[in-house]
Amino acid sequence: MAELPILQFEEKIIETVERNSVVVIIGETGSGKSTQLSQILHRRGYTNSGVVGVTQPRRVAAVSVARRVSQELNVRLGEEVGYAIRFEDRTSERTRIKYLTDGVLLRESLSNPELDQYSVIILDEAHERSLNTDILLGLMKRLVKRRASNLKVLITSATLDGDKVSQFFSNCPVLNVPGKLYPVEILYSNERPKSYLESSLKTALDIHIKEPKGDVLIFMTGQDDIEKLVSKLEDRVRSLEEGSVLDAIILPLHGSLQPEMQVRVFSPPPPNCRRFIVATNIAETSLTVDGVVYVIDSGYVKQRQYNPSTGMYSLEVVQISKVQANQRAGRAGRTRPGKCYRLYPSVAYHEELLDATIPEIQRSSLAGSVLYLKSLDLPDIDILTFDFLDSPSSESLQDALKQLYLIDAIDENGLITRVGKTMAELPLEPSLSRTLMEANECGCLSQALTVAAMLSAETTLLPGRSKSTEKKRKHDHLDLPDGSGWGDHIQLLQIYECWHQTHYDIDWCKDRGLQVRGMTFVKDVRKQLCQIMQKIAKGSLDVQTSRRGKQTQQDYNNLRKALCVGYANQLAERMVFHNGYRTLGFKPQVVQVHPSSVLKPDDEGKFPNYVVYQELIATSRPYLRTVCAVNVAWVTPILNKVNKLNINKLSGGSGHIEEHAEGNISDLPKKDAVTAVPDDQESKIQAARERFLARKGKK
Ligand code: CDP
Ligand code: MG
Repeated sequence: MAELPILQFEEKIIETVERNSVVVIIGETGSGKSTQLSQILHRRGYTNSGVVGVTQPRRVAAVSVARRVSQELNVRLGEEVGYAIRFEDRTSERTRIKYLTDGVLLRESLSNPELDQYSVIILDEAHERSLNTDILLGLMKRLVKRRASNLKVLITSATLDGDKVSQFFSNCPVLNVPGKLYPVEILYSNERPKSYLESSLKTALDIHIKEPKGDVLIFMTGQDDIEKLVSKLEDRVRSLEEGSVLDAIILPLHGSLQPEMQVRVFSPPPPNCRRFIVATNIAETSLTVDGVVYVIDSGYVKQRQYNPSTGMYSLEVVQISKVQANQRAGRAGRTRPGKCYRLYPSVAYHEELLDATIPEIQRSSLAGSVLYLKSLDLPDIDILTFDFLDSPSSESLQDALKQLYLIDAIDENGLITRVGKTMAELPLEPSLSRTLMEANECGCLSQALTVAAMLSAETTLLPGRSKSTEKKRKHDHLDLPDGSGWGDHIQLLQIYECWHQTHYDIDWCKDRGLQVRGMTFVKDVRKQLCQIMQKIAKGSLDVQTSRRGKQTQQDYNNLRKALCVGYANQLAERMVFHNGYRTLGFKPQVVQVHPSSVLKPDDEGKFPNYVVYQELIATSRPYLRTVCAVNVAWVTPILNKVNKLNINKLSGGSGHIEEHAEGNISDLPKKDAVTAVPDDQESKIQAARERFLARKGKK
């Protein structure tokens, strides 16, 4: 324990923190930043005057690190050491060290802009450059000036460009904690493999047969591939002759793993046993697994990308950056010299990989963040002049402003409205917050709370939504409600209602292939949202959250109307001569309803004329996911608003009125511009590769 590099720098760290309000600390992954810094500050008295708060971009990291620190300090989790993530607060009056997601800290600063319960705020994992951490960086800059006498801000990172952050904070000191990294031999493949799954499998087996003891960490792009590789590895390892090789344990590691499964990777293996840890990029820097000597790096990562001009999300498999590749390799050299097998040629590393990962702020929808900053209502904080470490594009800022305007969160001059202020208090994306408020007006808040909670589940609830087709077939005929022809939101409501009628019977969920843990979480979230609405309501809202008997058509209509108001920016109109929809409000595109939707064509083969959608996502082609049929009468006022929209005014400028801010809605592509690509990981990687080669060819 005492070996962790950061502990040897305790004096230096404390000395620097004493003299400066902001300190940047750079240290190798595993050097003890996340688990030890808070304890050092605690030992040195910083928890006497307030709480030491440590932010994490990932929920699992917040939970896992808090658990570890409570063990090290030998206290019960939730007492002196606790954590808070969205919808789960495990802290108490006694909490002195608090791990929390960056999103939760942002939310706390809404009700308490000075964050005065904290004596120290550590923005951990800043190199991840999550959207929320980037916004916190800007806010901290302001806060340290206001609380110069009693707040310390530490920014820690494994790889971040320290000078850039230091300059951002008026040249604050940067402490480098040299890690005790052993040399790592890098082995490149001669060429890109046809299948990186097969190639990982083969490399892992080679290591197991030929290399001496030491655990193997394999980076995959997502849960599906992890599960596939784990099962293949298990088969192959079992078929090796007993006694000829070490025993093996194969462990998955990703964000949606059950907590009991997660802790398994932190417990030491039995003697004479090699562990294979098959992980997402969560193991790159957020979680350190001890004992790793061999790393297998596919060179890919799954990244969510948002296109502000089309409103489309894509979950793309993209090449990692050089920084990420080096991080991955570094995992092999923590305890002794190691090896990193890169499943790509060295020329790819040097010529194809970007130097650094693109920060999330440049590839996300900003509606939530813009609403947040506007609702802070601080005279010195404005979204358009906000001090970002890296600025978002003006296109994505305008997209956010437009969305907020269409759902009444800001007025035509870009100023936050009363509705917008209330929305910002809800821990939900703006469209869902707006839906709840509208639902309260039209007497269906109880139903809308259920839908909001169902949509906030962190895991997939429904069977057959995961990619594994086997599961889908098994559950296809299961007896679940069908949304009464109105679509997925209504189905979500109906499922929860049925469950409620069984008095939340666990077997009822199991029999229908519903995730029990997910459903229990939904029940808890619903209760919390209900309490938040009631708290917000004090005086201003008359909240009707009590559940009545069976749902009626009237209830469904009210809920659909509320959804239409909340999702005003996500509207689509059925195309008359086309088996598809076109999106309204964004650059017009032709899209289809995702096959997993319960919304099906009627007897004449027609879909409803208008739908709102939860998400527009490009997998093999652009799909509307989670859709709800809405009435034309509710759509018309929205379209009028779209047509009147003046983006210059919204951005605080004075410009002229633009007739169609978003281009002519009827100006549609003549043909589907989408080509169908088989919907699996390998082909996506193949496609990414071809795109790259095509680009390269053009040079
Ligand atoms: O934050 P940083 O990457 O610098 O290191 P850390 O997360 O504080 O990890 C320091 C040590 O604690 C590593 O050896 C981890 O393996 C160990 N650790 C653990 O055993 N269990 C956890 N939940 C977290 C950390
Ligand atoms: Mg860390």
